[in-house]
Amino acid sequence: MNRSRNISGIVLCVIVTITWVSYHLLTPGCGKKYEPPPLRWYFNVLNNSIATDYYQQHTTTEFAELLNLTRWPDLSLKELKFTDSTSPKETQYHIINKRDLYKVGETLDVLITTKDHMGRLKTYGGDFFQTKLHSSKKKAGVPGQVKDYGNGSYLATFLLPWSGEAQVNIRLIHSSEAIAVLKDKRDKYPEKVYFNGYFESLGVSEVTECNLKISGKNVCEFNDPAAGEIWQCVRPKTLPCDSWRYHSMGGYRQVTNSLENSFLSGSVTDHNIPSSEPPVNIVQSNSSLTSKLPVCKTNLEPSLPSGYYYEDQWTSLVCLGQHFSKPDDARACLRGRDIYMFGDSTLRQWFEYLEQFIPSLGRIDLHLNYQSGPLLAVDQEYGIAMRWRAHGLPLRTTKTLTSNLQYEAAQISQIGGGPYTVVVITLWAHFTNYPLDFYLQRLVRVCKAVESLLTRSPQTTVLIKSANTGYKTVYGSDWLSLQLDILMRAAFKGMAVTVLDAWDMTSCHYLPDGIHPGPPVIRNEVDLMLSYICPK
Ligand SMILES: *[C@@H]1O[C@H](CO)[C@@H](O)[C@H](O)[C@H]1NC(C)=O
Ligand SMILES: *[C@@H]1O[C@H](CO)[C@@H](O)[C@H](O)[C@H]1NC(C)=O
Ligand SMILES: *[C@@H]1O[C@H](CO)[C@@H](O)[C@H](O)[C@H]1NC(C)=O
Ligand SMILES: *[C@@H]1O[C@H](CO)[C@@H](O)[C@H](O)[C@H]1NC(C)=O
Repeated sequence: MNRSRNISGIVLCVIVTITWVSYHLLTPGCGKKYEPPPLRWYFNVLNNSIATDYYQQHTTTEFAELLNLTRWPDLSLKELKFTDSTSPKETQYHIINKRDLYKVGETLDVLITTKDHMGRLKTYGGDFFQTKLHSSKKKAGVPGQVKDYGNGSYLATFLLPWSGEAQVNIRLIHSSEAIAVLKDKRDKYPEKVYFNGYFESLGVSEVTECNLKISGKNVCEFNDPAAGEIWQCVRPKTLPCDSWRYHSMGGYRQVTNSLENSFLSGSVTDHNIPSSEPPVNIVQSNSSLTSKLPVCKTNLEPSLPSGYYYEDQWTSLVCLGQHFSKPDDARACLRGRDIYMFGDSTLRQWFEYLEQFIPSLGRIDLHLNYQSGPLLAVDQEYGIAMRWRAHGLPLRTTKTLTSNLQYEAAQISQIGGGPYTVVVITLWAHFTNYPLDFYLQRLVRVCKAVESLLTRSPQTTVLIKSANTGYKTVYGSDWLSLQLDILMRAAFKGMAVTVLDAWDMTSCHYLPDGIHPGPPVIRNEVDLMLSYICPK
């Protein structure tokens, strides 16, 4: 989780643009349609083609449809030359049909024309941009939507949500050539991030390598029947598998050659596209973007963009979001609630924010590893219990007791639920380096656990935090995160849960992009969560 690069020069928000593939066209839901294949078929590490064949022969069409949502133009790695790849310096953009004045609520179209390092027009698509419209004076930002024409041109479309000045910002995150490298490494080298297993018994200790799947070695297999998950460690020489006591991050393997590294290097990754376009001027109109919004509840239609910043406050365009500027307001909202958070450190930031913001909500020291939890905070007077724990393996963490690592599906199955119960889940940052089929199976099991929770206790509030931007390497990249996010949104579509869109909120903020967003972003994310817990 701490591999994020510090992106120094970027002052403003980034944005995101993404061809949000049409996830909203999918029909519901995880439980009914998507049957996960048998566990053994995670993937074959030595020979990924086996897994692919398996999927072609055995998956339901729905499973294939889900994976199909993540399609991206394919390039053959063998034919790539650095000089032919997309150059952020040569690439240009201009505003289409530019006017002197725009009105709030209108849209602005920008054509991006990509060029390679020799200044030649590119003739194919697949570049990954993030785009935003922003104003540093107003601390305002809104992400744009990017359409890939497939011929080297891209259309970025921006909603104009505020009056005053607004500046277009287009960032090339990765060229299509870099994406080809990311995709290839994701699918072929699931063991590029590896973990340690610590076996201890009667004063003897051994450390071996562990992962979702260890290929070509004699292994100990740790099967969690409640969650349906398997974890493997190389079998220790002398100790029994039962002596597996601790887990930690192991390391990162180099999986790229020097040509591949050139596509992913800092000199071409995450760079602003230069432009001489001056800011556009927007005047107030009578149309209001928020007057017809519903109160925040489950099953609302997603909006593109999902909101915008103005004076550092996020206005949701999905529902009537509120801002909880006083601790008492947040405390009143959480009164009597039993909150379970399962996820990674980006969700732990929400726990930390609330714990600091509400003075009466105090942490109980459970003497456990902070990076994996569980963590507990309570407000006795108001009857608030708030818990966070890591989502289970795989998890990049410092050394922690394996018995404290519990899979989220197993935990969810132990929650009774009800009107006072809030379950918040996020699942992505520790999965970016694995082939998509693994994530999809994990997702389906979480989905099913949520579905049975909602069946036994339909009044339970279930919130899913989306991925946020920040990663830019072969082990984790915004593009890899986005692919998982597309699957997550599709899998939960139609269920009585809410996806909280942290992606748009991180991609257009003025703070430099980072895997752990800064305080103003977290405040807005938590306010959105509270808006769904206490709708008004
Ligand atoms: C990998 O799969 C391909 C195609 O199925 C096969 O030809 C090849 O022999 C396999 N390689 C290994 C190492 O199993
Ligand atoms: C994948 O999506 C494309 C474009 O939407 C469609 O033409 C194709 O038939 C889909 N393939 C599968 C297997 O669903
Ligand atoms: C690519 O296609 C779009 C839409 O048809 C068009 O507007 C644009 O000019 C084309 N770009 C190039 C470089 O041909
Ligand atoms: C807004 O509406 C009022 C009356 O309905 C009208 O007089 C005014 O010109 C409108 N303003 C704009 C900017 O359209």
